[in-house]
Amino acid sequence: MTTTDGTPSVGDWTPQELEENGRLLLSCLRRHFEDLRTLPVTTDRSAQEIRGLIDEPLPTEPEAFGDILDQTWRDVRPHLTLWNHPRFHAYFSNSSSGPAILAEMATAALNVNVMLWDAAPAAAAVESTVLKWLADLLAYPEDGDAVLVDGASLATLYALAAAREQLTGLDVRQHGLAGSPRLRVYASDQTHSSIDKAAITLGIGLDNVIRLPTSGDGMLRPDALDAQIRADVDSGYRPMAVVANIGTTSTGAVDPLEQIAEVCAQHGVWLHADAAYGGFWRIADGVRPHVPDLSAADSLVANPHKVLLCPMEASALFCRHPDALTNTFRLVPEYLTTRHENGSVDFMNYSLQLGRQFRALKLWWIIKSFGVRGIAERLTAAVDLADRLRKAAGNSSHWKVENPDTPFPLVCLRYAPRGLTREQTDALNQRIHQRVNTAGRSYVSHTVVECGYVIRVSIGNIHTLAEDIDVLWRELSAAAAAEEGSAS
Ligand SMILES: Cc1ncc(COP(=O)(O)O)c(C=O)c1O
Repeated sequence: MTTTDGTPSVGDWTPQELEENGRLLLSCLRRHFEDLRTLPVTTDRSAQEIRGLIDEPLPTEPEAFGDILDQTWRDVRPHLTLWNHPRFHAYFSNSSSGPAILAEMATAALNVNVMLWDAAPAAAAVESTVLKWLADLLAYPEDGDAVLVDGASLATLYALAAAREQLTGLDVRQHGLAGSPRLRVYASDQTHSSIDKAAITLGIGLDNVIRLPTSGDGMLRPDALDAQIRADVDSGYRPMAVVANIGTTSTGAVDPLEQIAEVCAQHGVWLHADAAYGGFWRIADGVRPHVPDLSAADSLVANPHKVLLCPMEASALFCRHPDALTNTFRLVPEYLTTRHENGSVDFMNYSLQLGRQFRALKLWWIIKSFGVRGIAERLTAAVDLADRLRKAAGNSSHWKVENPDTPFPLVCLRYAPRGLTREQTDALNQRIHQRVNTAGRSYVSHTVVECGYVIRVSIGNIHTLAEDIDVLWRELSAAAAAEEGSAS
């Protein structure tokens, strides 16, 4: 960039350059989305090859944005695994929708820090409104504490920190854990590993995360929970929290939240609901009857970045007890002291994070752009596509759906021809999985359930159509046939 007299300037791009370069990017994105269905979902290059494409000496001289963009589109984009691809079905398939893509750009341009009301007044107001809307979508009480964080892992850490703070007679925030009874956290053996990481961080220790066995349906048993808590109390442990799942990672199982809440209430134990995946699926009419009343939980996490057409990172943490989060995390040094007025919110008091992005803007734009009706229609379409895949598997002789009871569009498939041992069938499914991903037309992940290795298909991308599910089904069938052919 140069000044009007032609001398070099140390400032930013001019507003005109920003617009011109922005147009270059937007036209790349336009072509990207126009071509998306024809692009491989992942790369076939090795880690070394990709590092070789990208590693270069530290640039000392400025480069034109057009060249940087060309290099990105030549060397980076083709070697990503494209999560926003209609045939990405691994982990939890999610979406980055148009309004959110533009909101991320506006967020960076405005660059406000939503830590204190005065630091970003209207952004804090948008976050409060969005959290109220999200609570409404989850049918969770709106009058407690709520905050947007980066992901469910940290939301669970914060919820369990609040649970620890609520334990009467301990005041861990002030005194630490020394001399405290050993605290325990309970969950099913299907619960996400973020609970273990939270226990590591909070000084509870992995030995005190009690993972109760589930039978084939992946659900936590309230009676087994009750028995374990009683036994632990008798042995001198202090039960601190139970984590219940609304959509387990492996199979989309839903724990009986209301009965678990009764057990928790009897023992005075905090109930945290991990609805990171399942929470917002209740917006779809067909799913809602299968999601329990979430207000039974003391705290709740649900991830817009898994379900709500929203790119990473956005997770919503709710706590129905007013001040439970703020009493845990509020700590205001002199340099952050600011005025308060009725209606102001200081979001830095709700978690460990001080500097905070204007994360709510993308959610505000998504919800306003699609409306709840538009979101519900899109989520219902994904649920219907999962049924299409289940039906195709049901009509074939050797494929089996191993999680038929989940209400969510998550399908665990196992190819199990007769006459093979469990180990042989596991190995066969691993090879089918590998073949499908290597071909690059569809991308799936796996898990291990009671019967063994299964191919796990998550459906939830805004671009996914019936034709994409048909492509996936053909890929799976062709991979299975090729494996059978090479075995005979
Ligand atoms: C059930 C469940 N809880 C928590 C998490 C952690 O979510 P995040 O990646 O937002 O930290 C996941 C991730 O997939 C999950 O499946």
